[in-house]
Order: sequence, then C-alpha cells, then structure tokens
Amino acid sequence: MPKVLFVCLGNICRSPMAEGLMKQYSKERGYILQVDSAGTSSWEEGNLPHPGTQAILKREGVDFTNMRSRPISSEDYYMFDWIIGMDDQNVADLINRAPQGMADKVHLYMEVVKGKQQQEIPDPWYSGQFEKTYRMLMEGLKPWLNRFKEEA
Ligand code: 4NP
Repeated sequence: MPKVLFVCLGNICRSPMAEGLMKQYSKERGYILQVDSAGTSSWEEGNLPHPGTQAILKREGVDFTNMRSRPISSEDYYMFDWIIGMDDQNVADLINRAPQGMADKVHLYMEVVKGKQQQEIPDPWYSGQFEKTYRMLMEGLKPWLNRFKEEA
C-alpha cells in the first residue's frame, strides 16, 4: 500500500485539503492508499483546518473532524513513500531536513500535471483564494494516483 504525506507550511490550508481530496478520490476508485499531511512549521500544531479549507472539504463531503495540524518528523521520512510539498519553499525545507537517503521521496505537487510541472500552489492563508487551491489540487489527483500505481 503506497503511503503518501502531503506537506505545506502550516498544515491547516493546503495540505489538509490535499489529504482529504486524495483520500476521497482514491477511495471512490477502490484504490487503497495511506494518506496523511503535515507542516514544515509547528505554528498551527493541534489546530483544525482553516475555515476556508473546512468549507471546501464540507462542500465536497470530506470529513475533517479528526484532522489536526502537526509538524513533520524525521520518522515520517521512513514511514512514507511519497512526501509531496505544495511550493518550492516546502520542497527546499523538506529536502534540507531529509535524513540520509530520503530526499528522493520529496516531490512538488504540480510536477505530475502536464504543462504545469513547475507551478507552486499559492498559500491561501495570505490570499484567501481557497477555490484556486482546490482547483489546482483537483488537477493533480488523477496523475498522482496513476504515479502511485505505476511505482507500487
Ligand atoms: P498552509 O497555510 O501552509 O497552506 O497551511 C498557512 C497556514 C498558517 C500560516 C501560514 C501558512 N501561518 O503563518 O501561521
């Protein structure tokens, strides 16, 4: 079973949205995945997703009541097969902190989306554009699931 960790800065906006959407997408297609999310910071530790992410997950029928922000730990690098950051800073932080031999697990979310491989998912914490985050995350669900299947 592929194990996937989505990562952003606070683990309250982008990565919990990615976690919820991928859980639902894979489940609907009968594909068994372990999905979790974490932050590169501990600023929001223990907090529920941001109200903007809550609203989108609620609309999409994804339960977020058990989601709480947590910082990534070194154990996560051994536990998960895929560690997927939302922007270039997340990826740089994740690679910098990777234990020996683990940096290859780190990816940028949009790298699987044709023509958008270098794009970052902007932080809606600053912009309030949660709908844009949702649209970008939706574009990656199918190609990521295919990638997990290919390399399973
Ligand atoms: P996220 O957004 O990384 O998508 O969860 C943020 C959440 C909190 C903060 C920054 C970004 N913050 O500065 O607390």
